[in-house]
Amino acid sequence: IYYIRYGDNMNKRKIKTIIFIILIINIVGDDIKPNFYKNIKLVKEPFTYDVLINKEYRLEEDYIPYDLVKIKLEFANNYKYLRKEACESFIKMSKQAKKHNLSIIGVSAFRSYKYQNNLYNYYVQEKGIKYADSASARPGHSEHQTGLALDVMGSNNDYNLFGETNEFKWMIKNAYKYGFILRYPKNKEHITGFKYEPWHWRYVGIKVAKIIHNNNITLEEYQKKA
Ligand code: DAL
Ligand code: ZN
Repeated sequence: IYYIRYGDNMNKRKIKTIIFIILIINIVGDDIKPNFYKNIKLVKEPFTYDVLINKEYRLEEDYIPYDLVKIKLEFANNYKYLRKEACESFIKMSKQAKKHNLSIIGVSAFRSYKYQNNLYNYYVQEKGIKYADSASARPGHSEHQTGLALDVMGSNNDYNLFGETNEFKWMIKNAYKYGFILRYPKNKEHITGFKYEPWHWRYVGIKVAKIIHNNNITLEEYQKKA
């Protein structure tokens, strides 16, 4: 269209430059083009601690982990459940943080398929599908359903502002020692599919968390699925 409109006045070099730029954008664009909610695969081993659940890998509708335990109310703002190993490690971490006068409190942990469905639909209704997909997983695609993900708040009592707390700074340095990783870091949206969530931590086990932390990678990259 550009050529037809301006072709007569344009020299060939300009056209070549434009075509070259379009080509580059296409190549680079293709490389980072996300496969979000396309070619969705069902996860076969949802029990493994380093299981990848995202916009490409989903859980079954009726999947509920068999070893959920309640987080002590001292470390949660209400009745919240995590898988046993994740819960024990979280308590250990919170107790250690407490020694430094820091308060790490769980505000959302295990969420059923149905709960996630309501949550996602609420976001769609309130903010539209584009925002909803950047902030909330569709049902079956939330790692909260694995019982291994935990949203936390710090001493400012607002999980949305957790990124500004000393608790966050401490977790960035120490959470991996307890098997937790920051699951949706800044500038990794094109890989994880979600905007930056400083409050959302994921238990993957100490060994895997250490690798992810030391290499500054995402779970997708660790699983070589990015
Ligand atoms: N907020 C995260 C992505 C979830 O809904 O699981
Ligand atoms: Zn979360």
